Amino acid sequence: MSERTLALIKPDAVKRGLVGEILARYERKGLSIVAMDLRTIDPSLADAHYAEHVDKPFYPALREFVTGGPLVALVLEGDQAIDIVRRMNGATDSREAEPGTVRGDLSLSKTQNLVHASDSPESAKRELELWFPSLT
Ligand code: TYD
Ligand code: MG
Repeated sequence: MSERTLALIKPDAVKRGLVGEILARYERKGLSIVAMDLRTIDPSLADAHYAEHVDKPFYPALREFVTGGPLVALVLEGDQAIDIVRRMNGATDSREAEPGTVRGDLSLSKTQNLVHASDSPESAKRELELWFPSLT
């Protein structure tokens, strides 16, 4: 069943010149880019996006990082897109992510881990409304 998911190519990837490399992976897989936007987000969007994490000890560093430069927000569409993009991105901690995944191939960090993707249909709905309100 065709689904839409929110993906973020985070500021570390933009700074390192990895946007094309990461986008190419999603495109080669067969996912469609439905929307795409380079933007620098305010702390309020970071807090809303990471609502489940705002009280955790790692959150101040995460907030600093995701608001610290432009990122690429995109909506990807395709059969089972939500699960597929999560698996293509790899484990949260890049040091543990499998080779072949974005994080496993291109990052060594847990916080600066290059990418985000919605983790369930409920998260996808919430995140798409938050990031691309005109689309829904
Ligand atoms: P989480 O939602 O657990 O991971 P994912 O991005 O794979 O859905 O955490 C959100 C982000 O927070 C994660 O991409 C990196 C950062 N983070 C840390 O910096 N330290 C941590 O211990 C955890 C769990 C996450
Ligand atoms: Mg998450």
